[in-house]
Amino acid sequence: MKLLTTLHAGMGKKTALWQNRGSDFLDKYVIRGGKPLYGEVEISGAKNAAVAIIPAAMMVDGVCRIENLPQISDTDKLLQILSLMGAKVRFINPGTVDVDCTSVRLSNRIFSLTKQIRASYYLIGSMLGRFGEACTTMPGGCNFGVRPIDQHIKGMKALGASIEIGRGLIQAKAAGGRLHGARIYLDKVSVGATINIMIAAATAEGMTIIENVAREPHIVDLANFLNSMGADIRGAGTDVIKVRGVQKLHGGAYSLIPDQIEAGTYMTAVAATGGALKINNVIPRHLECISAKLREIGADVQEGGDFVVVRREGALYRANVKTQPYPGFPTDMQPQITTLLCLAQGTSIVTEGVWDNRYRYVNELRKMGAEIHVSGKTAIIEGIGHLTGAPVAACDLRAGAAMIVAGLCAEGTTVIEDVVYIERGYQDIVGKLRAVGADIAAISEPDDEPDGNENRALDDVG
Ligand code: EPU
Repeated sequence: MKLLTTLHAGMGKKTALWQNRGSDFLDKYVIRGGKPLYGEVEISGAKNAAVAIIPAAMMVDGVCRIENLPQISDTDKLLQILSLMGAKVRFINPGTVDVDCTSVRLSNRIFSLTKQIRASYYLIGSMLGRFGEACTTMPGGCNFGVRPIDQHIKGMKALGASIEIGRGLIQAKAAGGRLHGARIYLDKVSVGATINIMIAAATAEGMTIIENVAREPHIVDLANFLNSMGADIRGAGTDVIKVRGVQKLHGGAYSLIPDQIEAGTYMTAVAATGGALKINNVIPRHLECISAKLREIGADVQEGGDFVVVRREGALYRANVKTQPYPGFPTDMQPQITTLLCLAQGTSIVTEGVWDNRYRYVNELRKMGAEIHVSGKTAIIEGIGHLTGAPVAACDLRAGAAMIVAGLCAEGTTVIEDVVYIERGYQDIVGKLRAVGADIAAISEPDDEPDGNENRALDDVG
């Protein structure tokens, strides 16, 4: 099974659930561009659903079977965290895991892992729900500007928790040992705060009403997961969610939705290279905003029951894109679509509507010949018709995906460094692309500077 290179920065020994090669190798991707993509790709389970559902499994008494789990380093780390807390974690097959949290307890052994990933903030909600108290680190670092968690904290306080933040730790305690229901209005539409409060409220006493919530597909997926384990959550997918707290959650089996952003990345890749790809195991409704934008740019997108077919033969056209919370165009597709627009005729404008600073990758695209001017949240892209291969780095997960899209359509060879970011969120991207005709290979080189690898693992996003 695929291994993960930087799992154990700061951990005394290698305890990965999957085979692990340690941190003494650096992986790079080498892409010889210019090959159209043809064939079929299977989309894995949704990363951002998985990283919420694994912490939520801590609230369940009994065995919780999670199916369609993506094999990526973020899910690996979260399962390791549960395991360090005393959960029994058993793989039935690579995409199915049984998690039994009957004997979990708080533990400071998890801290070296929790500070590596963004989604560890969901442990605040799940620990409070399970134990009436929580102790974890601040989540992984910020790669695109300030990433506050004030709305998470506001929610937990409204549910009756006192919270202390200091020396990199977040400690929380529910008055009387159990959270209670509350009415909470989010000042900012936040995926993370919506999820965290839903998790915590699932076993709180009484009714919680959360207003101005996010509506992403993985929020509905988390609600469905919790409901299938005995929770009582209504309204997920609208902007008001009502959670009637239950005493306990019980075991069960749940299959994750497919990954909207992984699918969108392959759709954009074939629009960039030309060719025809059938992208299987998707929910086409979740992809509508991406499909519509790709059609506008010049690709043909046909929807089936659980697949989409994307073809591109002719020219690409300029377009304007504004990222917004769901059902708007996803911010997690912004670097990939910007890359595609470099190949189009004319000038395009991309506006980032979610994050303050998500254009770090533009410097890398410029090394490949892109002409992009960034001012604040706006990028102006002069379509130049083609990109040229170059050595580049993956600044973060989706920036890395954009480098792959760029490398696939560029003339010549592109070498992408820091692919550890990409492997956090894309299951076997090299194997999947090779199977549809891409000339891409992962190479490993010994890391001469062991500390460098650790630093990269801690400077995380997601
Ligand atoms: N915000 C606040 N206060 C908060 C929380 C968020 O002001 O307490 C602001 C943020 O600064 C941002 C906006 O609200 O401007 C939206 O942030 P959100 O909380 O929705 O983001 P998140 O939950 O931290 C998740 C995904 C991101 C994705 C965003 C937006 C996970 C683990 N991460 O982050 O995914 O970009 O939602 O859709 O689910 C990725 O997968 O590459 C990725 C970065």
